[in-house]
Amino acid sequence: MAAVKVAILGFGTVGQGIYHIINEKREQFKETLGVDIEIAKILVRDVTKPRSNASQDLITDNFEEILAIPDLQVVFEAIVGEEPAFKYSARAIENGCNVITANKVMFSKHGLVLQEKAKQYGVQVGYEATTAGGVPVIKTMQNILRVNDVHHIQGILNGTSNYILTQMRSEGLAFDDVLKDAQNLGYAEADPYNDISGQDAFRKLMILSALAFGKQPRWEDVDVIGITEITSEQVEEASAKGLRYRHVADVQLGEDGELVAKVGPELVGPEHPLYSIEGVNNAVALDTNYIGTLTLIGPGAGMFPTASVMVEDYADMLAKQTAPVTI
Ligand code: NAP
Ligand code: HSE
Repeated sequence: MAAVKVAILGFGTVGQGIYHIINEKREQFKETLGVDIEIAKILVRDVTKPRSNASQDLITDNFEEILAIPDLQVVFEAIVGEEPAFKYSARAIENGCNVITANKVMFSKHGLVLQEKAKQYGVQVGYEATTAGGVPVIKTMQNILRVNDVHHIQGILNGTSNYILTQMRSEGLAFDDVLKDAQNLGYAEADPYNDISGQDAFRKLMILSALAFGKQPRWEDVDVIGITEITSEQVEEASAKGLRYRHVADVQLGEDGELVAKVGPELVGPEHPLYSIEGVNNAVALDTNYIGTLTLIGPGAGMFPTASVMVEDYADMLAKQTAPVTI
């Protein structure tokens, strides 16, 4: 039985979810994955915060201690913002360590560079959790892109916005109250600006664009509008007409080969494929040349949906490492 050491960067909603799943499934993973996974260290910003669910010996605020772990196999990156997340991820890769990230702010900007670097150092980067929470959109796209072309991606990519719009309509709740609720449920970020301004959906759309088209549109050319201007009265009025607000992210390849993208609220009727996507759910519709339109739906945020796809990324890495060589 191979014993492997992993580290978690960040011990908030997502980091704690990873810790819980790896420990809860440790015995099962010995059989199914053939490894005994030991969480060797957890990086946080503030070591003085009480952490009831992990031993204090594991907690550090010094990234050098993470890099010093002998034979560290994986870093699960679940901290917030572009830096130091990019620097830490790059250094982990340079140290011969696989990286699995949930951080879309960092990955939307530096994903292609990290993937190049990973190739160079013979390690892997997993980023399923950056986009659409528990919905396996990255894995699915990586599979279908081997044969299909994707020419249009449309979806709901922010769980918090969809949760707010749903609760405002179905429960008649005020925007601020539902936002607080979404933070307590671990859907919204600690600073929810990116969620409600459309920036979070925009970053996820850029990650999908890079995967589908190998490039992103110029960021400054993309119109990004959030849900902050939508009032309870507008939601009620729309509902009385049988319509719903949905926050939609959209990117497509134009005939001239240029990408066209937009992010913002739309009023949709029952005939629209995103009409019935409620609560924290996300949906991604992929228009492809052979399959036609493929739509994935599921929880777009939250501790366990997000953490579980990160652990799945790790299982995929192990499977690739042990896959038989065919000749
Ligand atoms: P969170 O609850 O705010 O937790 C963030 C954690 O990161 C905290 O433990 C914090 O340390 C630590 N941290 C922040 N900056 C750090 C730094 N510079 N150095 C070391 N540690 C640092 O955030 P979260 O919801 O778990 O999200 C984590 C990441 O996953 C974010 O990038 C987020 O966008 C992404 N994500 C979240 C979800 C979700 O549903 N929540 C879903 C998909 C992706 P302290 O505990 O000491 O403050
Ligand atoms: N805050 C994000 C959302 C988390 O609500 O969609 C998932 O990326």
